Amino acid sequence: MTDTEITAIAEQYYPRNFISNIKILGKRVIIEYKNLAENPKITTELKQKLSELMPEYKVSVIFVEEKNTNLGVQAIEKWKVTGVKNIIGVASGKGGVGKSTTAVNLALALANCGKRVALVDADIYGPSVPTMLGYEGAPLITNDGEHFLPFREYGIESISIGSLIDRNTPLIWRGAKACGAIEQLMTETDWGEIDIMVIDMPPGTGDILITLSQRVDFAGIVIVSTPQDIALIDAIKGVNMFKKTGTTVLGIVENMSYFVCPHCGERADIFGHNGAKQTAESMGETFLGAIPLEPEIRRTSDAGTPIVAANPDSPHTKAYEEIAQKIIQRIG
Ligand SMILES: Nc1ncnc2c1ncn2[C@@H]1O[C@H](COP(=O)(O)OP(=O)(O)OP(=O)(O)O)[C@@H](O)[C@H]1O
Ligand SMILES: [Mg+2]
Repeated sequence: MTDTEITAIAEQYYPRNFISNIKILGKRVIIEYKNLAENPKITTELKQKLSELMPEYKVSVIFVEEKNTNLGVQAIEKWKVTGVKNIIGVASGKGGVGKSTTAVNLALALANCGKRVALVDADIYGPSVPTMLGYEGAPLITNDGEHFLPFREYGIESISIGSLIDRNTPLIWRGAKACGAIEQLMTETDWGEIDIMVIDMPPGTGDILITLSQRVDFAGIVIVSTPQDIALIDAIKGVNMFKKTGTTVLGIVENMSYFVCPHCGERADIFGHNGAKQTAESMGETFLGAIPLEPEIRRTSDAGTPIVAANPDSPHTKAYEEIAQKIIQRIG
């Protein structure tokens, strides 16, 4: 096998950008990772896979740490997000399933439960939190010029990767650049005291997402899916990816779960129903709750007044609050 082929296998286990060297010495293949925390289970799986593909070789996987000689300390593993106690990521295997809508309403519901909440929009492919919370433009900078000041809307602090880029200029983010920008938003914002930070993550299971799961000290991940099989297959991939990087999965939310006819009150399961619950149970994960397909949820999000803020007494707000309660119980 060539280095490229070995890399292609290796990146199914650990993010590719941490590979610092691949060597073939005689009958031994050595894969070297830099500044990455080892997960022994994943290392074993990677070794097994390569041994199957190259049975005549012995496989070594090693982890090295680059010392920062200036400071005399080891390279930082996790990003330091000052003032923030717990970080949860809202992710989806697939785009367009309502990840951002869920992240925004969940953040507001956590605040309704008495928590001090921050919301970070890290979706480099389509940042939408500013629209949903009704703010725009670049964040203010503190007097010392060192930190961003978050926007404060409906009682929560928020900042978006969208604020750092020109809305009309499509930007193809490269992995390191995207992660650098997200790191900057998280670590260089003056958050004050925050109990729970919610991150609207990029969709999918790509390199950037893997790096985030390595660098952010997550209390856990909430996976959003719609009930269709095709979305659930991607949700399963998402759950597995996070588990592989050693990140806790808090559970699955089923969005656009059912539709209640505004005229006759009858309930219709447009995309099927309970798919996420069954999927969660079959994977041994928690089912966190179901949010209906509801025009008012879309309308309020588009208008910058999310339903949890706009209509605190609606049953949909209650549904988000129940999910928030389960998360609070889980993370303590
Ligand atoms: N429960 C719901 N009922 C009705 N409309 C919804 C619901 N959830 C989301 N939507 C609408 O569906 C669209 C997609 O939702 P959203 O932008 O939250 O998805 P996303 O997964 O973040 O998408 P993307 O991958 O583009 O970031 C939006 O117009 C949103 O208002
Ligand atoms: Mg989105």
